[in-house]
Amino acid sequence: MNRFWTEVIEPLARAAQPKIMVEVGSDYGVGTEKLLGLCKSTGALLHVVDPVPKYDADEWSARWGDSLVFHRELSLDALPVIGAMDFVLLDGDHNWYTVRHELEVIYGQTVAAGHPFPLILLHDVGWPYGRRDLYYDPDTIPEEFQQPHAAIGILPDHSDLVPNRGMNGHHFNALSEGTPRNGVRTGIEDFINDHDDDFTFRVLPVFFGLGILYRTADLKDGPVQLVLDALSLSPGLEELLRRVERERVDLTVAHHERLANYEVSQARVASVERFIQNNQVALGELGNKLHQTRNELDQTRVELADTRGRLSAWESKISVRAAVKLERLVTTRAPHLASFIKKVARRVRQRVNHMRSAGVR
Ligand SMILES: C[S@@+](CC[C@H](N)C(=O)[O-])C[C@H]1O[C@@H](n2cnc3c(N)ncnc32)[C@H](O)[C@@H]1O
Repeated sequence: MNRFWTEVIEPLARAAQPKIMVEVGSDYGVGTEKLLGLCKSTGALLHVVDPVPKYDADEWSARWGDSLVFHRELSLDALPVIGAMDFVLLDGDHNWYTVRHELEVIYGQTVAAGHPFPLILLHDVGWPYGRRDLYYDPDTIPEEFQQPHAAIGILPDHSDLVPNRGMNGHHFNALSEGTPRNGVRTGIEDFINDHDDDFTFRVLPVFFGLGILYRTADLKDGPVQLVLDALSLSPGLEELLRRVERERVDLTVAHHERLANYEVSQARVASVERFIQNNQVALGELGNKLHQTRNELDQTRVELADTRGRLSAWESKISVRAAVKLERLVTTRAPHLASFIKKVARRVRQRVNHMRSAGVR
């Protein structure tokens, strides 16, 4: 949500001049720090709600003094004790039950108590959590409000989760998209439909979608309206932004998948490295055996070549003996073939001499 700071959050907050601001879902505190800077300069108070902040919230509370009240709690436990509020950022648990009830609690703390309804900015009203629940911790959501869910990834244009694909496979995601009581945007719409007040709900269709919600009568013709007007889009530009967001989402998903594959490869490399480390002695012995076997193989090759040479020499000797015998036989029994046989015998001798000079024994 902090990506909307410069163009949306800060101008709206300055125009609204809130006394009490609330941020639900702080994470690493990137947006929180910006809000606190603003509070310091305007004298506003910021309530931050996050059960698991990724920074030292006690140290931050000490550093920011009167500007910050930190609630290390779930939003539905913290919001009822905060009281009236003027400017709220909702970016905590992205599911129908939480958002629908956060809005109800805020309504109870403000309108029902005679205050204006605050200007509320809600993140993740677009894909993937506009129409699909995410549960940081399903045990914190009453069972009857939980969608069937699993820690499996999400892909655009796929209602079902897709194993080993997509993004946010480390979160508990609803198995299906677009069903009743499912998703952040559905929670906002159901809140609006369940109240008689006239609410305005606008969506900036970028960076997973930012919703802007207010009671129309509360902000009519004021400085906030001027900022909102400046953020208006023509239908053509809105459609263009939707397409840009879709391309950004596709690239983000591809990036997440590559990152996940890279992490799997890294884990495999680490496990092979561990295996090598744990089996260094055995692998060393295996290496020695391999070396020894290679030497034995080389030796066998030499012996084989030697045997081949001997065999070939024996073959030649046998041929020479046979030729001599044949020569004798023919000279005594068939003198008319003697000169032909002598020629053959000479050739055999020449071949044998040639082989001997070439080193064949
Ligand atoms: C998406 S991050 C918030 C990002 C932050 N707003 C920013 O712009 O940098 C969501 C945060 O909500 C917190 N969270 C989860 N469930 C919550 C709940 N029920 N109430 C309040 N915070 C919650 C998580 O601990 C996480 O730090």
